[in-house]
Order: sequence, then structure tokens, then C-alpha cells
Amino acid sequence: MSDNKQTDKLFATPMSTAPFEFNAQVADVFDNMIQRSVPGYGFLMDVIGVVAQRYGQEDSQCYDLGSSLGTATLRLRQNLPASCHVIGVDNSAAMVSRCQHNMARDNSQASYEIRQQNIQDTEISNASIVILNFTLQFIEDQQRQAILNDISAGIKPGGVLLLAEKIRFDNEQQQDLQVDLYHDFKRFQGYSDLEVAQKRAALENVLVPNTLEQHRQRLQEAGFKQIEVCMQCFNFCALLAFK
Ligand SMILES: C[S@@+](CC[C@H](N)C(=O)[O-])C[C@H]1O[C@@H](n2cnc3c(N)ncnc32)[C@H](O)[C@@H]1O
Repeated sequence: MSDNKQTDKLFATPMSTAPFEFNAQVADVFDNMIQRSVPGYGFLMDVIGVVAQRYGQEDSQCYDLGSSLGTATLRLRQNLPASCHVIGVDNSAAMVSRCQHNMARDNSQASYEIRQQNIQDTEISNASIVILNFTLQFIEDQQRQAILNDISAGIKPGGVLLLAEKIRFDNEQQQDLQVDLYHDFKRFQGYSDLEVAQKRAALENVLVPNTLEQHRQRLQEAGFKQIEVCMQCFNFCALLAFK
């Protein structure tokens, strides 16, 4: 966890809709935003610790793609063998500078680097673990298969990809129910109706969810042999994909 404790009030006052961006204002409140906006986020951080302990291979590289403030990157690093090298990647300068600050305060032994880079341009090699925690959903749909192909090609035998995403459902009734429950969850976290509505509008066409089946098909196409759901909370889901 980083030391940033600001409460997310970014959508609390009426505003004209602008597309959501991972800028400095978002980075300043991001810890609070993601914990109150992603059901199961805390559990997933523990899953990352478990995955790191179980699948982190000596002398391998472990990637956190879309590392934001480094919460998952830290959880990874703190649970890996000392001979691992951790690579956090994010294309937002505001996120990268805060992530570097947060990582520098951690004394775990595994070496690390935080890169400001598009994950489309990130070469994956000698990897035992790759984390894609709520990042693929922000990348153009047509680019997602190629990214998963590159990740799969760079993962060693016995390695794993953790893919967490907001998902949608083909069945209209199921979709409506899950989204309603999710919005109830956000109100339960203290967000107002206005905040929920304005954030939703800002994310339209920026966060584009796929179905669970689309994710499974892409992962299979990329060469992953076994795919297991390890978390689902309303319309948020995490998959472990094994080479
Ligand atoms: C929802 S946040 C990820 C949260 C983070 N993984 C965690 O668990 O705390 C998505 C992140 O992906 C980054 N991002 C979006 N598109 C990207 C891209 N094409 N390349 C690299 N980073 C990207 C954003 O800047 C943002 O920090």
C-alpha cells in the first residue's frame, strides 16, 4: 500500500463529461478510488502474494503491467525469491513517479525497475509471473490478443498470468443485475448517485469490458493450457492462466 490517503471526491460535483484519464488528480486519490470502486481488490492483493510465493521461480522476471501506484507490484516483490527481478510498467507519468516513490520505501530483496512505457511495447522474457490487474480493459480491443500472445510467449513453463478485469455478461438480465449490485456496492462505499453516474459516463468507451468467455478464448488462443477463475465479485473477475 502506498502512503497516499486522499479520499476520492473527483466526481462529487456536477461537471461536463470528459473521458477518464490516469492523470495527477487521479493518481493522488487512486488508492482510495480503487479500493472503493473494485469489489474484491483487497482479496486480489492477497492472491498476488499467494501466487508470488507459489509460482515465483528463482532467477526469473515478474511483471506488473499497469502498475499504477505499485500496490500489486509491492505485494509481488515482498513474496518472491530474492533472485527474482520485478518489472512494473505504466504509461502514466503521474502514476510512475508515485510508484517509484512507494517502491523505494520497501526493503524487500528482489530487485526491481519501474518503467514508463506502453505495455504494447513491453517485451516479456524469462517470466514466471505476469500480473495484468485491471489494465487490459483500458487498451483497444483489437490490441488485446497480441498483448496476451506476447505475454504467453515470454512466460516460462510452470509460469502464470493473473488477469483481472471488469467483465460484462451477454445475458441482459444478468448484466443488469450485476451492474445494479455493483452500483449498490459503490453507494455502500460512500459514493453518491452523482459520483456513480459521472464516473460511469467518464469511463464510457475508455474502459471497454469483455465477457468471461471472450477472455477464456483469447487466453487459449495465446497458448495458455489451463485457465481458472480465482475471484469473482459482481462484474469483476480474476483468472489464473497457466502455461
Ligand atoms: C486500473 S489501473 C491498474 C491498477 C493496478 N494494477 C493495481 O492493481 O493497483 C490501470 C493502469 O493501467 C495504466 N495503463 C493504461 N493503459 C496502459 C498502457 N497501454 N500501457 C501501460 N499502462 C497503461 C494506467 O495508467 C493505470 O495506471
